[in-house]
Amino acid sequence: MAVVESDERPFVITIGSPKGGCGKTMTTILLAGEFAAGDYKVLVIDTDPQRSAANWYDTSKKAGYPLKNIEVRTVTELGDLAKTLEKPGDYQLVLVDIQGTAAAAVGSAVAFADFVVIPTRAHMYDVNGTIGMVDQVRLAGGRNRKIPFGILLNAVNGIDARTTAFKLAMDRLKTTGLQLMDSYLSLRPTFQAIATAGSLYETDGTNKAIQDARDQTNALAAEIIRRISEESP
Ligand SMILES: Nc1ncnc2c1ncn2[C@@H]1O[C@H](COP(=O)(O)OP(=O)(O)OP(=O)(O)O)[C@@H](O)[C@H]1O
Ligand SMILES: [Mg+2]
Repeated sequence: MAVVESDERPFVITIGSPKGGCGKTMTTILLAGEFAAGDYKVLVIDTDPQRSAANWYDTSKKAGYPLKNIEVRTVTELGDLAKTLEKPGDYQLVLVDIQGTAAAAVGSAVAFADFVVIPTRAHMYDVNGTIGMVDQVRLAGGRNRKIPFGILLNAVNGIDARTTAFKLAMDRLKTTGLQLMDSYLSLRPTFQAIATAGSLYETDGTNKAIQDARDQTNALAAEIIRRISEESP
């Protein structure tokens, strides 16, 4: 993916939902690898005191993955988060992984965002968290700014799609008028593996599972960039 220049300031993509385990950190890690492979200089801001994204970085580095073009900063203090977002440094892309319950952090991370990704599993609890997050995004934009956001269906399993739980969750989304992004992430052992070690692009790509995983994250990154260019003022 070619680097899309924004005038001086890096793009900020915030990944958030109040629902624990919906895939915020997974999405962050995958997007970091994807954009870094496209030669973006990427800063990941990990707001989780449990340091999930930072742990991914540390364990990957120890295992010998270079994670070229990627840096991770843990920022758990609210004031520090706003300062970091205001002047992130010499990067082309900033990804902010918002911890599930840190409502206050959500405000500034969303207010600074060029795009907000709201990952959701196809489950009612996740969908309810998604709807809450959409409200927060709309509030953060206030009267003058519509912050672009996308609801990303994560951990999709072909078998689940036929279950009542899946259908109920999707119907609930539909009744609110919210749409899913075109791209989605499947439930993949390959993604699970990346969560503790490396990036899809620093792993042998001759394997079909890796190729399929890359295709999915590439489509996601492309959709986000397209939406930013279409919807940013
Ligand atoms: N698409 C996927 N395929 C396989 N495993 C996944 C997928 N998405 C998430 N997981 C796994 O599910 C678990 C929860 O995902 P993740 O940590 O990304 O959620 P989170 O929203 O960041 O959670 P928290 O709210 O605790 O920060 C992790 O073990 C992760 O590796
Ligand atoms: Mg997380």
